[in-house]
Amino acid sequence: MGSLPILPTISTSFIVVSAILVAVGWYFIRQKQVKKHEKTMWLAAAFALAFFIIYLSRTIFIGNTSFGGPDHLKIYYTLFLFFHIFLATAGAVFGIVTLLSAVKKNWVRHKKIGPITSIVWFFTATTGVVVYLLLYVFYRGGETTSVIKAILGF
Ligand code: HEM
Repeated sequence: MGSLPILPTISTSFIVVSAILVAVGWYFIRQKQVKKHEKTMWLAAAFALAFFIIYLSRTIFIGNTSFGGPDHLKIYYTLFLFFHIFLATAGAVFGIVTLLSAVKKNWVRHKKIGPITSIVWFFTATTGVVVYLLLYVFYRGGETTSVIKAILGF
C-alpha cells in the first residue's frame, strides 16, 4: 500500500482540528468574547465526536492495525499507544464535564476545569499524531484485524 489509509488520516486530522479550535476558543475567552468562545468550543466538541465515530466504526467493521515497525521498538510503541489512549479517555471525560458545567452555568467549576481539559486535549492530539506517524508514515502498518472478523472467524 503506497498511499496513506483514508479513515485514519481523516480521523487524525479531526483531532488536530479539534485541538486547534480549543486553542482558538481559549484565546476568545481571554479576550472576553463569550459568544465566540461558546461557538468555537461546541465546534471543537463536534470534531472530537466525529473523530470518535469514525474511529469506533473503523475499529468495529475494519479493525485495528498492528505496529509494522521493527520488533525491538514494538514495546515502546505499545506503551506510547496506551499513554495516548489514557489521555484521550481522560480528555473525553473532562470535555463532557467542561461542557456540562457551561450548560449548567457553573462558572466556578468551568473556570477550574476548562484549562485542564484544554491542555489534556492538546496532549491527546499531539500524541495521536505521533501514533499515526509511527503506524502509517515512518513504518508501514502491520496486519489489520476486525473485531467482528475476530469474533465470527471469517
Ligand atoms: C460550549 C459551551 C461553553 C460555554 C457556554 C463556555 C462559557 C465560558 C465562560 C462564560 C467562561 C468565562 C467564565 C468566567 O470568567 O466567569 C469560560 C471560561 C473558560 N472556558 Fe468555556 N465555555 C464552553 C466550553 C468550553 C470548553 C469545551 C472548554 C475546554 C475545552 C472551555 C474552556 C474554558 C477556559 C480555558 C476558560 C477560561 C478559564 C480562565 O481563564 O480562568 N470552555 N467559558
